[in-house]
Amino acid sequence: MNQDLTDWDFCQNPYPELARWRTLGPVVYNEFADEYMITGYRNCSRTLAAVKKFSSQDLEELFVKAFGGVTMEALDSTRHHEMRAIWSEFFQRDALENQRDLVSDIVTSQVDQFVERLRSGESLDAIPNMTRAIPTLVIARMLGIDESMHQQFSAWSDAMGGTQEGAYDPSPEGRAVLRRGAAATAALNAYIADVIKSRRMAARGEDLVSMMVFHDFAKEMAEQEIIASNTQLVFAGNETTAKLMATTLVALAQHPEQRRALAADRSLIPRAIEEIHRWQTLVQVLPRRACSDESEVEGVRVPRGAQVKVLIGAGNRDPERWEQPDELDIHREPRQHLGFGFGMHVCLGLNLARLEIQVWLNQILDKMPDFELADEIVYGRGLGLRGPKAVPIVM
Ligand code: HEM
Repeated sequence: MNQDLTDWDFCQNPYPELARWRTLGPVVYNEFADEYMITGYRNCSRTLAAVKKFSSQDLEELFVKAFGGVTMEALDSTRHHEMRAIWSEFFQRDALENQRDLVSDIVTSQVDQFVERLRSGESLDAIPNMTRAIPTLVIARMLGIDESMHQQFSAWSDAMGGTQEGAYDPSPEGRAVLRRGAAATAALNAYIADVIKSRRMAARGEDLVSMMVFHDFAKEMAEQEIIASNTQLVFAGNETTAKLMATTLVALAQHPEQRRALAADRSLIPRAIEEIHRWQTLVQVLPRRACSDESEVEGVRVPRGAQVKVLIGAGNRDPERWEQPDELDIHREPRQHLGFGFGMHVCLGLNLARLEIQVWLNQILDKMPDFELADEIVYGRGLGLRGPKAVPIVM
């Protein structure tokens, strides 16, 4: 196997190749990047669960470079659990019900202004004009960011999100996107550092920054880790949620019958979102490092030190788990998929992402029942976060 996973054509529709690799065995060596790829559902989930054999240590360098400190995502030790425990209760599904009104208000304002412009005859890209703002404003409010800073906060977040695409674009524009992203990350880190200092001077608030700063375990964390953890929340949740909304618009536009069924029966919304996420997985690849002489998958040894790519997008179309996996079917019986990861690093914000998308989709079905795509959908390069580059909409 010799495949550039960032190749433009490959990224437009990687699924035929992913399906072929699944038939080759539990582990497929990719000469192109000297890496071992894991493909089927069961093997992907087992690999993600086996942190003593396949570690997340490589992410450490990435987070230190981006945010100046280590975050839970790069740690496989009990330190990970301690850090995660600070916020995990807040992100529980039931606890997030307290945030439903906040989410609804933000969704309503973004959807309403988008629909108003569509009604005046404009063709609009849904990502910069609607979906991107929603998770950014929600997390800004949860972090307790002052309202006067929300616009700036969104601008930083958008610039950071843009780096996902810029990373694979060698053109001058691609390099400029990366530079803007790096500057925005630095500015956000500096701002978060100030917010942390001011929270310490005040009484404990209900926001996520206070929750970390006043937690007992914060004494065990370096200042850079506290800053990085907060900045990472912005990075981890915004572009992902915005792109899952964008993907949902595309999926429903391409499947009008299922869209009508959903509009008629809103109880299908939660499973429809999971099915869309399974069918067009956003985070297609999770990087790991074989860290033991025992690192193996279904008896196939992966050499210690080797780079591993867990292809969760391929796992999500495994015919051993889903009948006709290449079909979108919102009526499917729900089964856990890998779109939010698996095991100890499973997405901390998955219930928040689900809540935001459910509230948003309900409003889309009410307020934009007849939208259409105004152009072909093109996917960006890379499988780290695969989603439409733009979703031009007309009504
Ligand atoms: C549709 C939206 C989202 C998708 C597709 C997504 C996807 C993922 C995936 C695949 C992982 C596992 C990473 C790994 O194993 O290396 C992850 C972890 C994580 N996500 Fe999300 N995410 C989303 C939204 C969010 C939101 C809204 C937040 C918070 C506000 C968030 C915060 C995190 C954090 C902190 C981790 C690290 C958890 C740990 O290491 O224990 N994510 N996410």
